[in-house]
Amino acid sequence: MTLSHTDQPWPTAGISFGGDYNPEQWDPSVWREDVELMRRAGVNMVSLGIFSWGLLETAEGVYDWGWFDEIINLLEQNDISIDLATPTAAPPSWLLAEHPEFPPVDHDMTRHWPGARLGWCPSNPDFRRHALRIVRAVAERYGSRQHVVMWHVSNELGGGNGHCYCDVSAAAFRGWLERKYRTVEKLNEAWGTAFWGHYYRSFEHILPPRGNDAKNPSLMLDFDRFSSDELLDHYLAERALLKEITPDLPVTTNFMVGAEPDAVDYARWAPHMDILANDHYTRSPDPVPQQDVAFSGDRMRSLTTDRRPWLLMEHSTSAVNWQPRNRAKNPGELIRDAISHVAHGADGVMYFQWRASRAGAEQFHSGMVPHAGPDTKIFREVSTLGAHLQRLAPVLGSRVPAAKVGILFDNEAGWAVRRGVKPNNFLPYGAAVRAWHAAFWRRGDGVDVLPPWNDFAGYDTLVVPQLFLVADDTARRAEEFVTAGGTLVVTAFSGIVDENDQVRLGGYPGAFRDVLGAWTEEFYPLQEGETFQLDNGWSGREWTEHVHADEADVVTRYQGGPLDGRPAVTVRTHPGGGRAIYVSAGIDSPSIDALVTDLIEPTPPPVTDKLPGLEVGMRETDTDEFVFLINHRADDAKVSIRGSELLTGLTIDNALVVPAGEVRVVHRRREV
Ligand code: GLA
Repeated sequence: MTLSHTDQPWPTAGISFGGDYNPEQWDPSVWREDVELMRRAGVNMVSLGIFSWGLLETAEGVYDWGWFDEIINLLEQNDISIDLATPTAAPPSWLLAEHPEFPPVDHDMTRHWPGARLGWCPSNPDFRRHALRIVRAVAERYGSRQHVVMWHVSNELGGGNGHCYCDVSAAAFRGWLERKYRTVEKLNEAWGTAFWGHYYRSFEHILPPRGNDAKNPSLMLDFDRFSSDELLDHYLAERALLKEITPDLPVTTNFMVGAEPDAVDYARWAPHMDILANDHYTRSPDPVPQQDVAFSGDRMRSLTTDRRPWLLMEHSTSAVNWQPRNRAKNPGELIRDAISHVAHGADGVMYFQWRASRAGAEQFHSGMVPHAGPDTKIFREVSTLGAHLQRLAPVLGSRVPAAKVGILFDNEAGWAVRRGVKPNNFLPYGAAVRAWHAAFWRRGDGVDVLPPWNDFAGYDTLVVPQLFLVADDTARRAEEFVTAGGTLVVTAFSGIVDENDQVRLGGYPGAFRDVLGAWTEEFYPLQEGETFQLDNGWSGREWTEHVHADEADVVTRYQGGPLDGRPAVTVRTHPGGGRAIYVSAGIDSPSIDALVTDLIEPTPPPVTDKLPGLEVGMRETDTDEFVFLINHRADDAKVSIRGSELLTGLTIDNALVVPAGEVRVVHRRREV
C-alpha cells in the first residue's frame, strides 16, 4: 500500500492550538468574547461547522449563510485559522423527516431514530447525494478564504453508523462480496459454508449477519471489512469533491485511535489523509491514563509515513460526559496530557470544545471555557498551555525517534476476536495489546504500535500480542525478522486463524509454530477468578495451554493444576542469534514486566535519571533534540541534562528540577 501523506506545509505557523468551535449555540454577543478569549489563550485554529448542516441549509438547496459569513469574518479579523468541517455528521431534521430510510439499522433490525448524529446509512446513494450537495456548497463558498487552512470531513465516521444492516446495505454487501470473490464457490470455500449446510447457491441469498444468534465468523469478519470500506468510500467521495474545488487544501477526518479495535480500519484509511488527525479521551476508571495517551500516540505515529507529525483534533480539558462517572482532571493534568501528546508526535493540540454547551446532549462536557467562565482553573491552564505551545514552536516538524520495540496491532484481528464464540470470551484484544505496551512504557522504552504490514526491519523486538488472525505474509515476515537476528514475542491466542477466519491446523499457533519451535495441542481456558502459578514465581489468569516445546527451551513451567510441569513460556534461539519467545499463558502485568526485564534489552533512554512517574519523551531533527520531561509525580524530579529549556527560557548546565506536576522541554544539539 502506498501512503499518500504529503510534504505539504502544516496548516498553522506554529503548533496548532484550539478546538471545536460551535458558535451557533450562542448569541452573537458571545462570539466577540470568544475571539477575545481565544486570542488571550493563544488559540490559532478552530474546527468550525462540524454540526452546522441543519442551520446552513434550511430546506433543500436553501441556504442561510449570513451568520456563518459573520463568524468566518470575525475569525479572520482575529487571525484565527479555520479547519473547516463538511457538516455531514449531523443531517438536518427536515432531511431525516423526508427520508425515514436514512438512519442506520442495527443487527437486530431496529432502525435508529433521528435525534443523535451520524444517523445515516453509509451505503445509501440518496443520502450521499444530499451530503455532497452541502459539501459542494460549503466548499464553493468558503474554500478560497485565506484563513480556511484545512478540511475536516464529517466527524468520527463510524461512531454511530459503523455498521448498517438495512436492505440497502445488504445489497451493497452482496456487491462487495461479488467483487471480492468473483464466484460464489470461492466465497463458500473462504467461509467454510459446508458447516450447517449453509452453502450458498447465489450471491443473492447472502444477508448481513442480522439477529442475535451464532453466525459464521468469516461472514461477520467480511461484514466488518465491508462496513469500514463503505464509510471510507463516503469519505473518499467527499474528499474527491473537496480536491476538485480546492486542490491545495489538506483534507482529513478525525480518527478515534485508542487501545480498542476501531469502528473502521484506520490503518487502511490512513493513506487517504493529507494530515492524520485523532480524537483521544482518557477514561475515568483507567488506573494509568498517561499510558493510554502514550498508546494512542504510538499508534498514530505508526500510521503516518516516516513517523510524520499528526494532529490531536480532540481531547478534553477536564471531565467528559459519556462515562458513568466523569472524573475531572487534576490540577496540571490538562497540560501534562496535552504535552504528552506532543511528545508522542502531535504537532497540534485541539479540544472538544471551545465553550462548554448550555443545552443539548453534551451540556456537562468540559470545554476550554467552562460554564463558570474564564476565571477558572480550566481556562487558566488552557492559557498557560497556549503560551507553552507557542514556546514549543521549534518542535514543529520534528519526529519521534525510531523505536526499537514494535508491537503489532490489527483491527481485523481485534474484530475477529470480538465476533463469534471463542474458547474464552473474556479476552479483550485491546487490553492484551495495552498490557504489553504498558510494560515497555513503564520501563521507558520507545514503542511503535504498528499495523502488521509495516516494515519490521528497524526493530530489535517485535511483540505480537493476541494477534488471533494472521495473514501468511505477516507470519513469513515475522520469521524473517527472527532469522535476521530480531527477538519475536508471540503471546497467547495469536496466529490461530488465517485471513478467512479459518483455523490453521496441525497445532496452535499455526502461523508461528515453526518459528517458535513450540506448539499447542489443546487450550485450557480458566474460569472466572481462577489463577495459575509458574515455577519462576510468575502468575496469571484467564488462559493456559498444553504446550510441546519440541525445539525450544523452557523459560518457565506450570506449578500445580492440570498442566503441572508443562511449559508455559518458551524461547527458541535461532542460528543467527534471533529469538522467538512464546508466552502461551495469560500472565499478569507484574509477570510481563519481569519477562521484559529478564529477556529484552532496554532501549537507552534520552536521560539517565529514571523515576517512576517522570515521563520522558523525545523528538528530533537531523541536528536537534527536544527532550520532554513530564512530571506526573507529587514531588519535584531532578534530572541531569544540559541544553536550553524552552518553557522557562533557562539555560541548563547540568541539572534541571521539574517541579511536581509540571512539564519541561529541553532543546539540545544532537551528538554526532
Ligand atoms: C467525540 C465527538 C465530539 C464530542 C466528543 C465528546 O469525540 O467527535 O463531537 O461528542 O466526542 O467527548
